[in-house]
Parts: sequence; C-alpha cells; structure tokens
Amino acid sequence: MPILSPKNTLVRRSFFGALGTSIPCGIWAAAIEPNRLSITQKEITLKYWPQSLDGFRIAQLTDIHYRPEQDAQLLQKAIEHLRNEPVDLVALTGDYIISDDSVITDLCKELSKISAEHGIFACPGNHDRWHVSNYLLKTNLQKAGIVYLRNQGLKLNIKGENIFINGLDSIWAGQPLINHAWSEHQGETPVISLVHEPDPFDELRAEKRIDLQLSGHTHGGQCRIPILGVAPVKVKYGRKYLYGHYQHEESHLWVGRGIGTVGPRVRFACPPELAILTLRSSS
Ligand SMILES: [Fe+2]
Repeated sequence: MPILSPKNTLVRRSFFGALGTSIPCGIWAAAIEPNRLSITQKEITLKYWPQSLDGFRIAQLTDIHYRPEQDAQLLQKAIEHLRNEPVDLVALTGDYIISDDSVITDLCKELSKISAEHGIFACPGNHDRWHVSNYLLKTNLQKAGIVYLRNQGLKLNIKGENIFINGLDSIWAGQPLINHAWSEHQGETPVISLVHEPDPFDELRAEKRIDLQLSGHTHGGQCRIPILGVAPVKVKYGRKYLYGHYQHEESHLWVGRGIGTVGPRVRFACPPELAILTLRSSS
C-alpha cells in the first residue's frame, strides 16, 4: 500500500488544517481577546420610565473577578472610558473577585476613580459571598463612594422624579430576601434591580415590580462558537438568560458579559464588556 494514499493525504491535511486553525484561535483566546474591552451601547425603552428622564444613561460593570497582575489595564480602560464619557448612574452587579479576598482593597481603590452624578450602586455575586466577608466587601465599597445594596433598596429623586433602585443578595451563594429588597418601594415608582444571577428574573418579576433587572454572572458564556453564538459552558442560574436584552411584558432584563474571567483566563467570540444602557421613555 503506498504511503501517500489519498486517504492518508486527506487525514494529514485535516490534521494540519485543524492545527493551523486551533493554534491561532488559542493564542487569540488566551492572549488577545481577554484584554480587548468592548463598549456596548444599548437603548432600552421602558413603559413607565419618566419622560423627563428620557436618555438617562446607566453604565454596567460586572464580573470583574479582579486579578491585579492581569486585569489592571483592562479595568483601567473601562474607568478611563467612564471618565471621558460620564454616565448618570453606575451599576456594579457582583463577582468582584475570584477567591482571593485580599484584592478587594486594591480593586475598590480603582473603582473610587469612577464618578456618576446620581451614584454608583453595587450588589454581591456568588464568588463574593463564597470568599469575602460581607463586612470587608461593604466597607471597602463604601470607602470608594459606592452604595452597597444587599437585600436593600432606596428611593432616588432625580429631576423631581422618583426612581427605586435595589440589590438582592446572590441567589446561589447568599440569602436573598426579596421582601427586604422591595420593602421601601412605594406606589408606581419605576424599579431598577441589581441581581447578580439572571435566571431568577421570571420568578422575581412575577412577585415584585421590576422595570429593569441588571445581571451578569454568565460572562456571556466566556467562550462562544462564532456565528452560532452558542456557549458550550453554562453556569448555574445563568442557563436561560445568557447575554443581552430580554423583555417580558413590562419588565426588562439586561445580562452583561462582564470584564473578567473564571478558570483559565480565556475568552473567545465574547470579549470583556462595559455596557452603557440608555433608558428611553415610551410615554
Ligand atoms: Fe457569578
């Protein structure tokens, strides 16, 4: 049998073809894409959003999973963008660390460089609840000028309009107390909810008023199959709502891809994201 039979040639070509594709893809996923911050601009029209607040801009930073030696520049890019293009409010939707709680102080020093006219608000994520004491997280965020909302909400008065913003504890790793988080809500005030894990959206909106839920947790899948957009790996409480804007009746959900990574520091077809949401009034 000849060594270079048509069958052997085909196998060899397939092997080198796959190798030729997988090596550049691997380099891209490990060395390039995790550092390429993308800015997503998205308009969301809320049925009961006040007309006078049409155009209100919220920046969402989520799942920073801070590793200073690798992520400092990436975070700096996001902070720099917010300094050059200020927003009305910033929402931090949890998972500030992976497991090392000693990075919280450095991270909060960086986050203190962000400002927003109507405040910066934060809820915890599952990694925070697993690995950081609530006291450490809360005090460091507060030192950075950030309002920590864990099963808590507050009314904001902006241009004479009332808005209610609240944050829930991590569904997976904390003790979410829904009644506490909505206890200060009154009447027909629109509600913005920070909830780290997206999938409880349906249960929450069935029970409480939600105009806009902001979530992270999924990293958008972190690695996706291009064109198909399929994510081979999904995470608990992040299987139904993977990334982007969803609407059910008058409730909206935004799921951000986040900044950081968990596990190997790789991303593919799913770059780190700073999301800037512009709220529109339908009235
Ligand atoms: Fe998470």
